[in-house]
Amino acid sequence: MNVSQEEQIDSSTWDPDAQKFDLLYSQDKIDRKIRQMGQQISYDYKDKELLLIGVLKGCVVFMADLMRTISIPLEIDFITATSYSNGLKRDDKIVFAGGPEATIKGKHILIVEGIVDTGQTVEALINRLKNQEPASIEIVTLLDKPISRKTEIKIRYKGFDAGKDFVIGYGLDISQKFRNLPFIGKVINE
Ligand code: IMP
Ligand code: MG
Repeated sequence: MNVSQEEQIDSSTWDPDAQKFDLLYSQDKIDRKIRQMGQQISYDYKDKELLLIGVLKGCVVFMADLMRTISIPLEIDFITATSYSNGLKRDDKIVFAGGPEATIKGKHILIVEGIVDTGQTVEALINRLKNQEPASIEIVTLLDKPISRKTEIKIRYKGFDAGKDFVIGYGLDISQKFRNLPFIGKVINE
């Protein structure tokens, strides 16, 4: 099949048999929200040494978009965090791997997450980074599930609430798939 470049992939072009979901946030809605977040971050971090640390893999689509809406100099780095063993089932233990390789000391760190659920991943990451004496650490997430929170963490910037639903797309997966959906879908369990 040849798809013309003008044609956007939207929820209706997706094979519904691959995974059943309802459209929760469209690409347009996400774009607009990210631009607002980028403007606010540019304002708040003006004249500050900003380092974005993306939590892989969920951050990948959001971070690529967000950083291009920020109009001040910044650095980026990544760390891999794994807490879900398979699909919807989770391990309580969070395993970090890789980075960050950038110097943390004295910098203003903004942790970039696709979604914050219990808050345990970002809490563990903050504790890890704290020892390296950053000037500040804040969190930016595209999606938030405040109802599921098990820790007391403060989220400085958030895109949307995801309620209790399991969501996919825009970097977020179910069993490592559907990160490539260019919108956020709510998984329908049958
Ligand atoms: P937390 O440690 O409970 O905050 O979990 C955060 C991680 O759980 C995220 O980085 C995601 O990988 C995963 N996660 C939580 N909720 C969802 C969801 O609805 N869809 C996809 N991944 C999720
Ligand atoms: Mg996952």
